[in-house]
Amino acid sequence: MFQKHSRTILTLYNTPEEATEAMNALGEYLHRLAAQHRSASGDDLLSASVQRQEAAEMSDEDIVAMARLLLIAGHETTANQIGLAVLALFEHLALLREDPTLAASAVEELLRYQSIARTSMSRVAIADVPLPGGQTIRSGDGIVLAIKSANHDPDFLPEPDDLDIRRTARGHVAFGYGVHQCVGQAPARLELQIALTELLRAFPDLRPSRPLEETRLRDSTAVLGLWELPVTW
Ligand code: HEM
Repeated sequence: MFQKHSRTILTLYNTPEEATEAMNALGEYLHRLAAQHRSASGDDLLSASVQRQEAAEMSDEDIVAMARLLLIAGHETTANQIGLAVLALFEHLALLREDPTLAASAVEELLRYQSIARTSMSRVAIADVPLPGGQTIRSGDGIVLAIKSANHDPDFLPEPDDLDIRRTARGHVAFGYGVHQCVGQAPARLELQIALTELLRAFPDLRPSRPLEETRLRDSTAVLGLWELPVTW
């Protein structure tokens, strides 16, 4: 149910009415869930939020909005990034299979190389910002920050269009930058490392079952992903 609604919210081709309907449906579901956690509190985020509400630190709307953001931002992102990572990795699987300790550097390089964050971030400057090239972003200017361009900038690292899971890609901006940097990046990194390592452990012979050129990217949503990735082992 929430997969269907979050897809509707994230698709680039929905109508405002469709998006609002999906937002409301998720909101109602989470509202009910919060009420259940109020009567039977547990050791979880929603219970902790409800306790804060009782201390008048969060309103009902705050809880629903936060839970909805975490649900969408936490699920669609990592799930799609696993598919993109496996696709990009196919040519390098042997390397990772031989040396699973490369998982951490592989995940950073994969996030840099092909991130689900295909849309650019937008910001408004609150002060003049001089750039190294001599330009100045003026206070009040709207700015579009293109994550993919930044991650493929040859000034950031050499041969940026090559995937090299042995290199240290730390410093990439797949999770954004600054105060609004992704709050879920620690669990996302961990999920990706575990998923890739376990996938190779469970299916040592994992390989694509049809030519990789036929793989279709799902580019109709704000979060990039794959329609499918048929494999065999
Ligand atoms: C591969 C996985 C992920 C990628 C590539 C990713 C990427 C991003 C990016 C680019 C931003 C915007 C940063 C900015 O505006 O500067 C962001 C924000 C955010 N992400 Fe993630 N994310 C991932 C996984 C997750 C997970 C697992 C969660 C939750 C458990 C999550 C929760 C959030 C939230 C709540 C924000 C908004 C932060 C704010 O505006 O202060 N993300 N993410």
